[in-house]
Amino acid sequence: MPLVPPYIASLRPYEAGRSAEEIEREYGVKRAIKLASNENPLGPSPRALEAMGAAYANLHRYPNGGLDLRKVLADKYDLKVENVIAGSGSEGIMSNIIRAFLCDEDEVLTTEAAFIGFQVLAKSRGVKYRTVPYKDWHYDLEGLARSINENTKIIYLANPNNPTGTIFTRHEFDEVYRHVPERVLIILDEAYFDYAKDNHRYPDSMHYRYDNVITLRTYSKIHGLAGLRIGYGFAHEELITNLLKVKLPFEPSSLAQVAGIAALADKEFVHRSLELNARGLRLLTDVLRKLGFDVVPSEANFVIVPLESASVAQWLVEELLQRGVIVRSLGAFGLPHCVRISTGTDDENSMLIEALEHLHLREELCRS
Ligand SMILES: Cc1ncc(COP(=O)(O)O)c(C=O)c1O
Repeated sequence: MPLVPPYIASLRPYEAGRSAEEIEREYGVKRAIKLASNENPLGPSPRALEAMGAAYANLHRYPNGGLDLRKVLADKYDLKVENVIAGSGSEGIMSNIIRAFLCDEDEVLTTEAAFIGFQVLAKSRGVKYRTVPYKDWHYDLEGLARSINENTKIIYLANPNNPTGTIFTRHEFDEVYRHVPERVLIILDEAYFDYAKDNHRYPDSMHYRYDNVITLRTYSKIHGLAGLRIGYGFAHEELITNLLKVKLPFEPSSLAQVAGIAALADKEFVHRSLELNARGLRLLTDVLRKLGFDVVPSEANFVIVPLESASVAQWLVEELLQRGVIVRSLGAFGLPHCVRISTGTDDENSMLIEALEHLHLREELCRS
């Protein structure tokens, strides 16, 4: 008898991105910056920090399973508490979905190179994991609809998508939804919702609710709370009831919950973060293109840069590391010829651009 099932034995543990401190030590650079994990470069929401400070004194008490946050969210979106779940990041909720809804013969369907966190969770369940290739870096929603079979149980869609930064419209979603049987659960991952919400083409899924769709959102991005692990989801109460049966009773932590409630009200911080990101996206896209890189237009807080080959992508990542800039190679996602770069502070963006321009100049000199 093997110690673990073969589908677990064949997996590789998720490798977290390397920290700036690690790169400074390893590469002997004075300052390293991390543009690799789509975090908020401004830091955590100040209101969240303040609220956590006030909550320390109660850390000897067990949390209430996210109930306070669920009530606040229900109120904000005019829903019942029974339609809302809170967890340890949206990945915490994804993990509950995998546990609650999948049987051995079920299949998961998504795009090629889907968000790595979802890939890890779905593959750890040992069910069939099927993908449809991108179409010009967008979801091929028609292709996904055509690929649904009698075993399909979960369809995972991220909007905006990570790692491509692209979106689909309400019309495109509805065209596919027509073909999705009721027994199929759609996970609509809106981790980057805030970055895209002002684009008139971007559909806020809170305005189109379906009984077999669960919307997931996170505090890890615009609210700057990735280290705290807090996210939430909206769905039909029957779906939420079943998720609550498998959820760890005390997640999210009490600190994460108070931070989440406070961060929701931190409009000034969200506004500042959005402006910085919009500036960063414009700048990075322009400069990268001027330097001859291909850049997919993004609606999130990162850009994907497809390169000629995996070795060129690896070369770029390594060259940038030598200059203290950490970006994400996408081999683990399934796109080894691509690199993903998150937007940073203005200063970090300048440091990245300087490093890219230096590389470009060196290449030109080598060629001449
Ligand atoms: C599409 C997508 N969903 C979910 C997450 C993770 O969210 P959380 O930190 O809430 O687990 C990420 C993080 O990078 C993401 O890109």
